[in-house]
Amino acid sequence: MDLSTSYLGLKLKNPFIIGASPYCDNLSLCQRLCEAGASALVMHSFFEEQLMAETNAPFVTEENISGDEAAKGLPNYSDYHLNPEHYIRQLKRLTQLVDVPIIASLNGRKLGGWVDYAQRMEDAGAAAIELNLYQLTADPAIPGDEIEADMLQVVRTVAASVQIPVTVKLTPFHSALPHFAARLSENGAAGITLFNRIHQSDIDLVKMEKVTHLRLSEPSDLLLRLRWLSILSPDFPGSLACSGGVHHAADAAKALLVGADIVQVVSAVLKHGPERLAELIAGLEAWMESAGYKRIADFRGRLSHRGSTDAGSLERADYISVLQTWKV
Ligand SMILES: Cc1cc2nc3c(=O)[nH]c(=O)nc-3n(C[C@H](O)[C@H](O)[C@H](O)COP(=O)(O)O)c2cc1C
Repeated sequence: MDLSTSYLGLKLKNPFIIGASPYCDNLSLCQRLCEAGASALVMHSFFEEQLMAETNAPFVTEENISGDEAAKGLPNYSDYHLNPEHYIRQLKRLTQLVDVPIIASLNGRKLGGWVDYAQRMEDAGAAAIELNLYQLTADPAIPGDEIEADMLQVVRTVAASVQIPVTVKLTPFHSALPHFAARLSENGAAGITLFNRIHQSDIDLVKMEKVTHLRLSEPSDLLLRLRWLSILSPDFPGSLACSGGVHHAADAAKALLVGADIVQVVSAVLKHGPERLAELIAGLEAWMESAGYKRIADFRGRLSHRGSTDAGSLERADYISVLQTWKV
């Protein structure tokens, strides 16, 4: 059975990579992940805010914001762990320790001095950069096309500053995702990671306050990824990563069937430990065997929207059908 796949021009032994997470802070856990079969590791993000705080660029700190804003608890990012030097040192250590590609993660919003950090990641041995453009625009004066133009400018600048491939991790909230994906590719993105899981706060009704905690994913989170992979994969010229909701081997099989090149796994290994990865790999192999496939290329993209002229109408027809067939 041949599980090898190509991702961002990297030849990987199988399609299971560890998504951005705290795993790469711990060298022995990284070794265990590689022993369990991880074909690449994505480091956790290095954030624009951390670099700006470190370089004393104007940014929000308790000293330079008004008392009102300070009272609202805006963070002092210089307190965050792993400063720029630590991140680079850890990246170098990882590349020396394990024999799988290490993908660095750079996380920011708007063009600024932080994008230069991509070059340092490349120099330290990163095989690729995952550029996470997570942001939430709360200002009603800013239109969506302005945000996307800013994002493209960041992608263009980062991609031009390094020789290694740059892939972009997106949220699903773009009104015309296929168009934006094409523009990302034109601006130098070698791939797209679908999707960021948006952090959402809950409310504690007893304490009457906002509760901020990190929720691990559920298998149902996969469905949104399956939809967009099936729509994007027929036309997107670069690599596609599925990130979100891969908990079982069957989830990985589904992501590949709709056109993913690789799947990123985080929550499943955080819940069950690094060795869970070996089970996922064995499970995918077993499924391929039972389905009569010898290599990933035999089935990758088979259930995508390849060949359909109007995927949007087909998806809408499914939507109407499921609503209308529900009987009470
Ligand atoms: C504890 C934790 C830390 C994470 N840190 C990052 C990060 O630094 N940068 C990033 O792009 N994504 C980060 N993520 C998101 C994951 O990379 C991934 O996209 C998401 O968890 C969905 O995959 P999953 O369903 O396998 O968990 C983090 C997720 C978790 C659970």
